[in-house]
Amino acid sequence: MVSNTRLARHLYSVATSAPAGKEVRTTGTGEWLATERRTAWERWYQPVALVRLRTALWLGMAWTVFAGAYVGAIVFVTAGLDRGVAAVTLAIAAGMKLISYVGATSSELGFLRGFWLDASRRLAWLEDYAAGSGRGGDRPAPACVTESIRFEGVSFSYPGTDRLVLDDVHLLLPAGAVVAVVGENGAGKSTLVKLLARMYAPTGGRITVDGVDLAEIDTAQWRERLAGAFQDFARLEFAALTTIGVGDLPRIDDRPAAEHAVARAGAHDVVDRLPAGLDTQLGPTWPGGAEISFGQWQKLALARGFMRDDPLLLILDEPTAALDAETEHSLFEQFAAASRTGAENGRVTILVSHRFSTVRMADLIIVLDGARVAEVGSHEQLMARDGHYAAAVPAAGRRLQLKWRHRVCGLGAWGCLS
Ligand SMILES: Nc1ncnc2c1ncn2[C@@H]1O[C@H](COP(=O)(O)OP(=O)(O)OP(=O)(O)O)[C@@H](O)[C@H]1O
Ligand SMILES: [Mg+2]
Repeated sequence: MVSNTRLARHLYSVATSAPAGKEVRTTGTGEWLATERRTAWERWYQPVALVRLRTALWLGMAWTVFAGAYVGAIVFVTAGLDRGVAAVTLAIAAGMKLISYVGATSSELGFLRGFWLDASRRLAWLEDYAAGSGRGGDRPAPACVTESIRFEGVSFSYPGTDRLVLDDVHLLLPAGAVVAVVGENGAGKSTLVKLLARMYAPTGGRITVDGVDLAEIDTAQWRERLAGAFQDFARLEFAALTTIGVGDLPRIDDRPAAEHAVARAGAHDVVDRLPAGLDTQLGPTWPGGAEISFGQWQKLALARGFMRDDPLLLILDEPTAALDAETEHSLFEQFAAASRTGAENGRVTILVSHRFSTVRMADLIIVLDGARVAEVGSHEQLMARDGHYAAAVPAAGRRLQLKWRHRVCGLGAWGCLS
């Protein structure tokens, strides 16, 4: 069941935040969102209001009884025992103390109820959820990949779901290789990348690095050996230097390192246009903050991903989707060349892209289809095989986007899916 408070909050943020603003205005959904939010809020508030009313009635009755007893006690002390002003003062002070004790006890009980019933239950759930990825084992991360990273019968379904997003995947990613992962939307490309980055653990099978199960390697250390950029990048609204520098926390203020990362990511054009270069505050809601476009944010995220000099695994999960195909191609060619020639640690580069021009230069192309690996090979091998990949490559290589058969509509039509 949808939580009505969360739904109301979500509708409020859709109706009032800038990113959704254009769609809300063009589709004219402002009134509808306001009504839906009001309805969700009322669905939450009506039972709460009823409980609050009942509680108020009980509290009123309890206080009436207490007040009666209190007044009775004072009358009793004053009239019955005739012990003078001191006794009356004592009775009043005792009554006041009693009220404060009762109040403190009931608020403690409220806190404990909240703590035990709500917070601890949520914490237990969060611990179970996080156990999926965990801290890994005690082995240190390797200094280099000498042979390969392997997927051995890896299956995966997201926590709380039964559907296998990856099903019995066997792969061999040789040390030093540039590997492209392709497939239609929802095929599991980002999921495969997330398993490599140890955001989740496989639900079946294992991933090994030179024969060592990734689960035995300390997760934090392994992640320190990763670099790159993810599809859903973060917009970190700091000075540009920090926005990029956080990609390698020990060198967060290292200007030459940030400049180098900007050069690797081909993001000079973005930084050059900022009024104070790397010192420019990003985000228009901050004093003097600069607004930059989606593609520019993406380039800065890519630069952040290139802060680490010597990663074992370079992940590029559609980090340049906002750029045109030719620019993406030349950037990826640069990354791949640097990986092939410069990396002596056996770095494996994983690129996810829907663009044929980018994908074809990889040493190995993995084609995912319906949670399974449909094909693996170089561009030439896959073209010769004349299977899924060959069918998705545009005729005569004139168009640059890989096209996958639309299974959803069942018409066998061909369409671009990115
Ligand atoms: N956090 C999540 N929880 C549950 N299911 C998820 C989650 N993330 C992704 N999925 C599901 O896993 C499937 C694979 O998603 P994934 O993001 O790996 O696809 P993809 O191949 O990267 O697609 P795209 O080309 O659109 O980026 C999708 O069907 C999606 O619904
Ligand atoms: Mg993806």
